[in-house]
Amino acid sequence: MDKQLGLTPAMGWNSWNTFTWDINEQLIRDVADRFESDGYKAAGYEYIVIDDCWSLKQRDQQGNLVADPAKFPSGMKALADYIHSKGLKFGMYSCVGTHTCAGFPGSFEHEFQDAQLFAEWGVDYLKYDYCFKPRHISGELLYKRMSLALKNSGREILFSACNWGEDNVYQWIRESGAHMYRSTGDIQDHWDSVKNLALSQLDKECYTGSFCHNDMDMLIVGMYGGSNNSFIGSKIGGCNDSEYKTHFSLWSLMGSPLMIGCDIRTANQVTKDILLNPDLIAINQDIESRGAYRIKPEPQWFHNEDVFMLVKVLTDGDVAIGFFNLSDNQRELSLQFWDIGLPYASGFSLSLYDCWEHKELGVFRERFAPVVPAHDCLIVRAKLVK
Ligand code: GLA
Repeated sequence: MDKQLGLTPAMGWNSWNTFTWDINEQLIRDVADRFESDGYKAAGYEYIVIDDCWSLKQRDQQGNLVADPAKFPSGMKALADYIHSKGLKFGMYSCVGTHTCAGFPGSFEHEFQDAQLFAEWGVDYLKYDYCFKPRHISGELLYKRMSLALKNSGREILFSACNWGEDNVYQWIRESGAHMYRSTGDIQDHWDSVKNLALSQLDKECYTGSFCHNDMDMLIVGMYGGSNNSFIGSKIGGCNDSEYKTHFSLWSLMGSPLMIGCDIRTANQVTKDILLNPDLIAINQDIESRGAYRIKPEPQWFHNEDVFMLVKVLTDGDVAIGFFNLSDNQRELSLQFWDIGLPYASGFSLSLYDCWEHKELGVFRERFAPVVPAHDCLIVRAKLVK
């Protein structure tokens, strides 16, 4: 049976980070093929999403959006059929405002007509951006309006809001019916961006959960500066492999959707090992979707904001613990088990499993204090043992 829509964070691929305007139906078909042949589908990735720049600059005589025939000569319905034939789901993109961020037509005052068209095309996911929103109408109302339109379209469509954490979105987005919502500005393919996005979301764990997940933006894992957009990364240069690993770990623990942004047709083995890590995906997809809370490492006088532990309680009673060192120097991170609710007097210890090395680390009582290199992390799954 299909999982309920939005129960856990969405997993998939999105065209924007690497390809921006340079998209076409062959690329999308290739990605669907790779999902099947390279293990992404088996790992849980299901949505293939076309971002901005897919339409013509003008609606047709009836006011309908028109797929650019040079990029998508077979049309969106045929593309959706192809993706569905692989057991995958098809996502598209529009915008709250009169225009999308790249200047194509948006859905303002066309919400019901566009939702109908998306449903007819077989769309399963709609990313809904925030550019060119008329000043005197609230974003809250416009997300509710599109949500209502999608719910009345006759098709089950996952609603992915994208207002970059603006206008106090945390306070109102859940009741709009969005299944996920961008809680940050756009990611860029370099370490400072990953670090700043993650730090901006610490202590916001109460605003994420089942059916409305905080979206920290698409993954940059495996891009290595390979975007055709200089803002995202072509002039910035990308990250190294341990930084990509830390990025994926943060997004996994913090409950963000896992939307791949690299060109999976040319992904190297390290990239695949990161994106397909079953232990991290299991933490991200845990059905209770509890928020990860932060613990500051001891001793307190040694604390920097960029060194912390994240703790996420899992459905089976295990606890995922991330030891993150986002600073520029190697650090010891000391976790006192009392701080996660486990007193010495309980008689219990924690048996720790390393989710990147895929091996047991042993049984620890009272505290665990790994040394973590700069820009790196250690992710463990902890089990209570007597
Ligand atoms: C905004 C969004 C991005 C992407 C672009 C497309 O910047 O936040 O994720 O969709 O628009 O123009």
